[in-house]
Amino acid sequence: MLTLTTIAEVRAWRRDVSGELGFVPTMGYLHAGHAALVARARRENAAVVASVFVNPTQFGPTEDLARYPRDLAADQRLLEEHGCDVLFAPQAAEMYPPGFASCVDVGPLAELLEGARRPGHFRGVATVVLKLFGIVQPTRSYFGQKDAQQLAVIRRLTRDLDLPVTIVGCPTVREPDGLARSSRNSYLSARERAAAPVLHRALCAAEALWTAGERDAERLRDAMRATLGGEPLARVAYASVVDPLTFGELQEAQPGALLTLAVHVGPACLLDNLVLGG
Ligand code: PAJ
Repeated sequence: MLTLTTIAEVRAWRRDVSGELGFVPTMGYLHAGHAALVARARRENAAVVASVFVNPTQFGPTEDLARYPRDLAADQRLLEEHGCDVLFAPQAAEMYPPGFASCVDVGPLAELLEGARRPGHFRGVATVVLKLFGIVQPTRSYFGQKDAQQLAVIRRLTRDLDLPVTIVGCPTVREPDGLARSSRNSYLSARERAAAPVLHRALCAAEALWTAGERDAERLRDAMRATLGGEPLARVAYASVVDPLTFGELQEAQPGALLTLAVHVGPACLLDNLVLGG
């Protein structure tokens, strides 16, 4: 696997690629969730590029940019094992040189839930992903359903700006106890780690009600909040039942509705979600 750090090097490599190219953007500290995206990209394309870039513009001033976990050597090993051809790992100055000023605003979707909790977050995500698409020029790009609103933002961006890339959403990879894999799980103490599967339990409790016939979205929110309320280390940021495209709150939980949670456990804010009806 090649590791490239400049945009010019990626462009030079890209010029000689003739077949379909799969791309997996990441912020590194890779785990089995990222690995699944790379493995899928490997199966569906002639060549695979991954990026590792802790993107400063998607972190708020009080967020965890400085302490975001990093381990490039381990990331290189995982990517190599899963058949990645090129790792693009630029420095911040390569992506945001002096004078950088443009950004992408994806509209109301970026203002709700994660967007309300983290003002400017999705502007940073959309901007860096658009830049990465322009640099890598992939045929397909792979994103996790774990970050469902981010996936919706990327689909919106791609549609609205007619980007010539197919967005592929991939299922959430979980630990055996149900906790969604996340680089931020490394922030958890042993006690917090033991508490964290409460997110998945809350989603499953609401899903069980829905399967039994409950369609009142507020009852499903109550069920999630009740489960989360039983865990003293969990503090709920939101427990929502939303339209999977607009992320507007629903009154009626029709098939395809998204149950989505953000819950503080110790120093981490953990996200998880589930689509009703599979
Ligand atoms: P990061 O959090 O590193 O995630 C990179 C990709 O891996 C995202 O598409 C995310 O949804 C996916 N992913 C993370 N955990 C997963 C899991 N448990 N199962 C399946 N997929 C999972 O998301 C970002 O980085 C950044 O915002 C980025 C898109 C790279 C822009 O900076």
